[in-house]
Amino acid sequence: MKPSPPSSLTILLFLLLPTITISLSPPLPPTPSPTSLPHSSIPSSSSSSPLDPNQLKALQSLNIPTSKDPCSQPSFHNATQCDASKPFRHLISLRLTNCSSYLSLSFTALKSLSTLNTLQLLNCPITPIRFPPQLTSSLRSFTCINSLHKISGVWLSHLANLTELTVSNVQLKASGPYVILSHMTKLKTLTISHCNLTGSLPRHIHSNLTHIDFSNNNLKGTIPPSITMLDSLEILNLSSNALKGEIPSSIGDLISLKNLSLASNSFSGSVPDSLSAIPGLVHLDLSSNQLNGSIPKFISEMRNLNYLNLANNNLRGVLPFNSSFIKSLAVLKVGGNSNLCYNHSVLSSKLKLEVAPCDKHGMPVSPPPSKRSSSADDSTDSDYNDDGDYDDGGSHKKEHHHGPNKVVLGVAIALSSIVFLIVFLILCSKCCR
Ligand SMILES: *[C@@H]1O[C@H](CO)[C@@H](O)[C@H](O)[C@H]1NC(C)=O
Ligand SMILES: *[C@@H]1O[C@H](CO)[C@@H](O)[C@H](O)[C@H]1NC(C)=O
Ligand SMILES: *[C@@H]1O[C@H](CO)[C@@H](O)[C@H](O)[C@H]1NC(C)=O
Ligand SMILES: *[C@@H]1O[C@H](CO)[C@@H](O)[C@H](O)[C@H]1NC(C)=O
Ligand SMILES: *[C@@H]1O[C@H](CO)[C@@H](O)[C@H](O)[C@H]1NC(C)=O
Ligand SMILES: *[C@@H]1O[C@H](CO)[C@@H](O)[C@H](O)[C@H]1NC(C)=O
Ligand SMILES: *[C@@H]1O[C@H](CO)[C@@H](O)[C@H](O)[C@H]1NC(C)=O
Ligand SMILES: *[C@@H]1O[C@H](CO)[C@@H](O)[C@H](O)[C@H]1NC(C)=O
Ligand SMILES: *[C@@H]1O[C@H](CO)[C@@H](O)[C@H](O)[C@H]1NC(C)=O
Ligand SMILES: *[C@@H]1O[C@H](CO)[C@@H](O)[C@H](O)[C@H]1NC(C)=O
Repeated sequence: MKPSPPSSLTILLFLLLPTITISLSPPLPPTPSPTSLPHSSIPSSSSSSPLDPNQLKALQSLNIPTSKDPCSQPSFHNATQCDASKPFRHLISLRLTNCSSYLSLSFTALKSLSTLNTLQLLNCPITPIRFPPQLTSSLRSFTCINSLHKISGVWLSHLANLTELTVSNVQLKASGPYVILSHMTKLKTLTISHCNLTGSLPRHIHSNLTHIDFSNNNLKGTIPPSITMLDSLEILNLSSNALKGEIPSSIGDLISLKNLSLASNSFSGSVPDSLSAIPGLVHLDLSSNQLNGSIPKFISEMRNLNYLNLANNNLRGVLPFNSSFIKSLAVLKVGGNSNLCYNHSVLSSKLKLEVAPCDKHGMPVSPPPSKRSSSADDSTDSDYNDDGDYDDGGSHKKEHHHGPNKVVLGVAIALSSIVFLIVFLILCSKCCR
């Protein structure tokens, strides 16, 4: 019985593949892998002390596999992290992910986990229980994403030592953010988003917050002075709420601000001039409000700006930007402002700004081109396009044209060689029969 061609082919491929893979992968540094060391059967953590037996039991009650030492890194799904204390190590970080809805938190288990400073619940639709005081006192970071059946602001407010709070996609019952935050005087990073949180922004926030994200809730009212007094604030995201009124000029007091989104609210009035006082602003999103007046020229002098979205407002007049400024941005959106126009002797229609060119009075000559008909606009606008300088298709810079990835190319070449080889071998085997 002769060997069947397919099996000999497979053997040949197996012989060839490693050579191809090795030639593709970058040379590995000659570090000895831990598994090749003489004592490979002994896990590295065995040199340090084991996990506290009570905490081991608590983990088992939470369906966290403990067959492998939860203190060895990386642990099962990186769910646990321990300190280095003796004779027993203690958990400092725990993440529960994708829990069964039958899982229940027990007070006893949580009590023995009172060394935790970080607790994360991701996709854990379990029933919240009162946390033991030892745990609320030690927790510094609490994350609850799409987890816990229903929580109240009062329940959260007990976690008074937190520096970091993230609550997202959770049914949260509170008459306002102040209920949650009033005792959290050490908070630095705060996210409460997609929670249908009602009420207004708190009148007092007495802490050194660097990050506030209240996006996608039902917050009402105006921006109070308490917010603009947070001079360490780097991220402020109030998008998709029901906030209204003018953007206070005190917003310029937020001198550390990098990202600001007030998008999808009902803010009115003009874009405040005080924004020019924020030196490090990289991301400005004021889209989908009712802002009026003209776009201030100082925006084009903000050296760090990278993302600018002023779309869907009532802004009017001539766009005060030149093409070198527009090219310096990764994203520029100004469409949906029906009285806004661009000076066609300054900017090319090829930038596809979704605004109409101006007449000599600084008014749009025609209704602004819609997204869908933008290709048709090229021909109608071409008589305004008397400057050759901007013909490099500025709008296309937003799509990053990387050259074909070298690894992809290598793989493609390797694959086509394999196919070629197979065809060659099949032909060969047919001939030799
Ligand atoms: C665990 O964390 C390490 C380092 O942070 C990371 O490289 C690894 O992919 C993570 N493993 C899992 C299963 O999340
Ligand atoms: C949780 O479930 C999601 C989607 O079902 C899955 O992508 C993810 O890997 C799971 N994570 C863990 C740690 O089991
Ligand atoms: C916060 O932590 C300190 C010790 O770090 C502790 O004395 C205090 O009781 C804790 N506060 C609360 C409200 O748990
Ligand atoms: C928020 O309210 C909407 C509409 O009432 C509802 O569909 C959504 O599930 C709620 N979100 C949460 C996290 O409860
Ligand atoms: C804010 O930070 C400063 C210095 O970093 C500190 O002195 C002050 O106590 C902090 N304030 C609060 C409310 O934590
Ligand atoms: C604000 O939050 C929304 C939705 O949660 C997100 O898409 C957006 O990127 C955030 N913007 C900033 C500046 O953080
Ligand atoms: C801040 O803005 C920059 C630039 O647009 C963006 O890359 C970054 O993800 C933003 N950060 C947050 C937290 O939204
Ligand atoms: C802008 O709107 C405000 C009220 O929202 C109004 O008082 C003001 O006159 C408007 N300004 C312009 C230039 O239309
Ligand atoms: C574009 O505008 C910026 C800011 O207004 C200015 O500094 C720069 O010189 C202008 N560039 C050109 C080519 O006109
Ligand atoms: C357009 O720019 C040109 C050249 O800078 C200037 O002379 C003209 O007045 C501008 N038109 C409008 C409507 O601003």
